Amino acid sequence: MSETESFSASAKQAYEKAREHTEKLKAQVGTGAPDSYFACRNLHAYYGESYIVQGVGFEVPEGKILALLGRNGAGKTSTLRTIARAGSPDLRQGEVWLQGTPIHTLKDFEAAQQGIQLVPEDRRIIGGLTVEENLQLAQIAEPKGWEFERIYQAFPRLKERRTQDASTLSGGEQQMLAIARALARDVKLLLLDEPYEGLAPVIVQEIERILSDVRKLGITTVIVEQNAVAALKLADMSIILDQGEVVYEGTAQEVLDDEDLRHEYLAI
Ligand SMILES: Nc1ncnc2c1ncn2[C@@H]1O[C@H](COP(=O)(O)OP(=O)(O)OP(=O)(O)O)[C@@H](O)[C@H]1O
Ligand SMILES: [Mg+2]
Repeated sequence: MSETESFSASAKQAYEKAREHTEKLKAQVGTGAPDSYFACRNLHAYYGESYIVQGVGFEVPEGKILALLGRNGAGKTSTLRTIARAGSPDLRQGEVWLQGTPIHTLKDFEAAQQGIQLVPEDRRIIGGLTVEENLQLAQIAEPKGWEFERIYQAFPRLKERRTQDASTLSGGEQQMLAIARALARDVKLLLLDEPYEGLAPVIVQEIERILSDVRKLGITTVIVEQNAVAALKLADMSIILDQGEVVYEGTAQEVLDDEDLRHEYLAI
């Protein structure tokens, strides 16, 4: 990639390191279960003929939070959807492993049964049902996660509103419900797509608090966020995507400290 010529030495070095890591994961395709808690290797996914996820690979140790960053259209949502085995994009090559179980062969509901819970950007709250009914719906299929009592302890606002139509909730409350719904399932890998999007700063702080509680519980998480600084504060490690490829991987602190890198890929 000739674009790297304009990069700072540190961004170039980071790019080389990320490519090396991607190649290493690629070489592991077909070798069976990885040692790591979660790993995806050499993911290639398409919307029709549009080739979007182009060889993405990364690992997340148990209990860690990874911030998956990149500019608009870099392929972040597509990567999360690929991991959760959503109907689109279509995974044509590559592997997804969670706790030694192959996920790449599964459909979305089977991946969810294995503990992969995607909290999508649009939150998919079901209007016409109450808050509690939304949670009940999440628990229709086994295995169940948190009991309602525990959920309401973590989200007192949801408790207050539990008999209320979920469509009447504020944006922040809907985000809480979307996260609570994932916890109501037996979550082993939480995938959060833009949890702070469209929320007022004071509500962002509230969601941040909830996520830092989730963090203390040791739930392995991948967070995608335009608000990169907020995501990096929460995260242990980070990868940056550009045009469907991993161009950086390292600690969250390294990204916060590397101005050139943030400028190049995150525009912050
Ligand atoms: N359903 C779809 N059909 C065709 N192309 C799509 C579809 N969804 C996304 N794309 C394209 O795939 C690319 C990656 O999109 P994606 O939504 O994964 O990016 P993103 O990093 O999440 O961006 P954003 O920050 O805007 O949410 C973009 O070029 C987008 O136009
Ligand atoms: Mg997105």
